[in-house]
Amino acid sequence: AAPLRLGLAGLGTVGTGVVKIVQSHADLIAARAGRPVAITAVSARSRGKNRGADLSAYAWEDDPVALATRPDVDVFVEVMGGHEGAAKDATEAALSAGKDVVTANKALLAHHGQALALAAEQAGRTIRFEAAVAGGIPVIKALTEGLAGNAMKRVMGVMNGTCNYILTRMQNAGLPYETVFEEARQLGYLEADPNLDVGGIDAGHKLSLLAAIAFGTKVSFDAVELEGIGSVSIDDINLAADMGYRIKLLGVAQMTGRGLEQRMTPCLVPADSPLGQLQGGTNMVVLEGDSVGQIVLRGPGAGEGPTASAVMGDVIDLARGFRLPCFGQPAATLATPVAAATSAP
Ligand code: NDP
Ligand code: HSE
Repeated sequence: AAPLRLGLAGLGTVGTGVVKIVQSHADLIAARAGRPVAITAVSARSRGKNRGADLSAYAWEDDPVALATRPDVDVFVEVMGGHEGAAKDATEAALSAGKDVVTANKALLAHHGQALALAAEQAGRTIRFEAAVAGGIPVIKALTEGLAGNAMKRVMGVMNGTCNYILTRMQNAGLPYETVFEEARQLGYLEADPNLDVGGIDAGHKLSLLAAIAFGTKVSFDAVELEGIGSVSIDDINLAADMGYRIKLLGVAQMTGRGLEQRMTPCLVPADSPLGQLQGGTNMVVLEGDSVGQIVLRGPGAGEGPTASAVMGDVIDLARGFRLPCFGQPAATLATPVAAATSAP
């Protein structure tokens, strides 16, 4: 069978991970996909950088738009990041040129998901984004496939590993926020703009994507009630611990009589609950459906291997010819959500 040909834009943490899986697991992927998967061309900002992977067999494009529209590319894999500029332009160009898209970019989809999903459908293509939410945890697949027969009642969880690292480290070592924040920076855990992490924005992006799928609504990131962890003090954490609680940056999305409620805020959770016991950079997503009841997914929410694992799951689905709509149903059928008035439960 003809190979599925990838154009890979971004050769950082995630992109390098994708190259490594494509190269090291070629036989396994071909057996599962029913055809080989090959990278034909790559793009990044700096051509000369050592990426720790052999890229010599791939064509190079300086411009991600040129990469996305190459005739020898079937699937555009976008792992550059950013919700304006190169990532958006190249994703739009790829769809217009009739390519499917796989992306890890939650910011792009949280801001432009509806327009991009419509553009994909008009082109008879799709956008897959398993890696964008909770890294290696296959939560999008769980919602769009395994749980498709459920009316979802609630989606919640810890979706930013950096915040969970900071909060658990404060708790375990008794250190103040500023010290642990600096530690996280030294360890390279923080996004280039740390406010994306500690301001709850990155986790809010992820929650808005899960909410769209779970409740059949257009992505509405602007309606997420956001509060980051910057104001959580060691005193707050100690007081919570004295009462048997932990503080977590917890996302909750649910459909109420007043509309779609989406909150990403520091919350008290019982110390002995699965969420309360979640340590370090791990993520946890709790899905509640009317038939299935409650499902808990836990695993690595970031990093080269876990995130590339999720990207490759999407790529292999496309190689199999499985072209699920971006948000689990046609974009034109997604409802405009009424935002619930903000309130604490
Ligand atoms: P990195 O910063 O490590 O890598 C980004 C890559 O994109 C680099 O290779 C960079 O080139 C390239 N790039 C950036 N801008 C351009 C541009 N304008 N034109 C061409 N290439 C460009 O990011 P990550 O790999 O960590 O993240 C990639 C995406 O995956 C982001 O959307 C992120 O949010 C998402 N993600 C990341 C996770 C992680 O654990 N890292 C987890 C889940 C999602 P150069 O190397 O030359 O600078
Ligand atoms: N900054 C994100 C986190 C990366 O800490 O979870 C993965 O999306």
